[in-house]
Amino acid sequence: MYKKILVTGGAGFIGTNFLLYMVPRYPETTFINLDKLTYAADLENLKEVSKRQNYFFIWGDISNYETITRVIKEGVEAVVNFAAESHVAKSITSPSEFITTNVKGCFNLLEAAREFKIRKFLQVSTAAVYGTPAVKEGPFTELSPLEPSNPYSASKAAADCLVRAYTWSYGLNANIMRSANNYGPYQHWEKFIPAVISNALQDKPVSIQGKGQRVRDWLFVEDHCRALELALLRGRRGRVYNISAEEERADLELAGSILHILGRSSSLLNFVDDCSGDDQRYALQAGLIQRELGWQPQSVLEVALQKTVEWYVQRFGNRLGAET
Ligand SMILES: NC(=O)c1ccc[n+]([C@@H]2O[C@H](COP(=O)([O-])OP(=O)(O)OC[C@H]3O[C@@H](n4cnc5c(N)ncnc54)[C@H](O)[C@@H]3O)[C@@H](O)[C@H]2O)c1
Repeated sequence: MYKKILVTGGAGFIGTNFLLYMVPRYPETTFINLDKLTYAADLENLKEVSKRQNYFFIWGDISNYETITRVIKEGVEAVVNFAAESHVAKSITSPSEFITTNVKGCFNLLEAAREFKIRKFLQVSTAAVYGTPAVKEGPFTELSPLEPSNPYSASKAAADCLVRAYTWSYGLNANIMRSANNYGPYQHWEKFIPAVISNALQDKPVSIQGKGQRVRDWLFVEDHCRALELALLRGRRGRVYNISAEEERADLELAGSILHILGRSSSLLNFVDDCSGDDQRYALQAGLIQRELGWQPQSVLEVALQKTVEWYVQRFGNRLGAET
């Protein structure tokens, strides 16, 4: 493993899970978490690793080149870029910050990686860059065209193109990691699964877009973290890897499962207008990472979803109850 890894956006949902997984596992590696601490971040979630000698936090913005170079020039060997504005609906109402962080921020990191000859660069990308496959279309492969349909996915696709250009133009040893929708502990309440849990726990209406037929391809966050670990260790230069457990579920079905786990009635379901620009389906095929890096998802949706719901109930159930 590398001696020093810069993790950007490590105080968000996936970055937190990644650091909690990696920091104790690689005591010889120093992990620097650089995060702007937007509304989506919570450093409290990193308490478990914050006292470890191989973990440091720096408050900083990837859209500021000076900040990044000050950190990278101190012996950073690898960069894992999670930092992003990540909420699709917000990107449709106020896209500007998405371009600044997701595109300009990534560009800054690539420039610094070039200047300081970084050995490995992982861009944490998303299935959303492919847009929506038609209902009967097979899942997307890494060769499918990029057809983003909202400012969030467009900004992520733009960043992917920049990363690709830096591997071709400057020989940067980069991988683009396109994962399906993640679920698990530490996700912000604005996202679908935590929002369903939170509302159901408070017996409030659970909002479902349209008729609930929007389909997402769900991946347990720890499986994503293991894929990133393998790419850091063995990812082939310039490769794009899709990461998916191929667990497609319609929103209605998934929300129904959560209500069932919580013992709540389906009468809480509240059908609301579709958010324009949101993709109706994500579906990925992850054969390449399985063949090349030996990655396999270890979690089955029904089991990991139960675990996830229990985690939120244990952590926030009483507090939510007290607020109502
Ligand atoms: N959540 C998913 O299901 C999912 C799926 C596929 C890909 N992704 C990608 O994974 C990455 C992480 O997603 P997430 O769900 O953990 O997001 P998140 O919104 O929970 O966390 C993003 C983190 O980035 C930080 N950040 C934002 N702007 C920054 C800036 N300018 N400089 C430094 N830090 C900044 C935030 O403070 C936050 O800690 C994103 O790049 C996202 O596009 C997410």
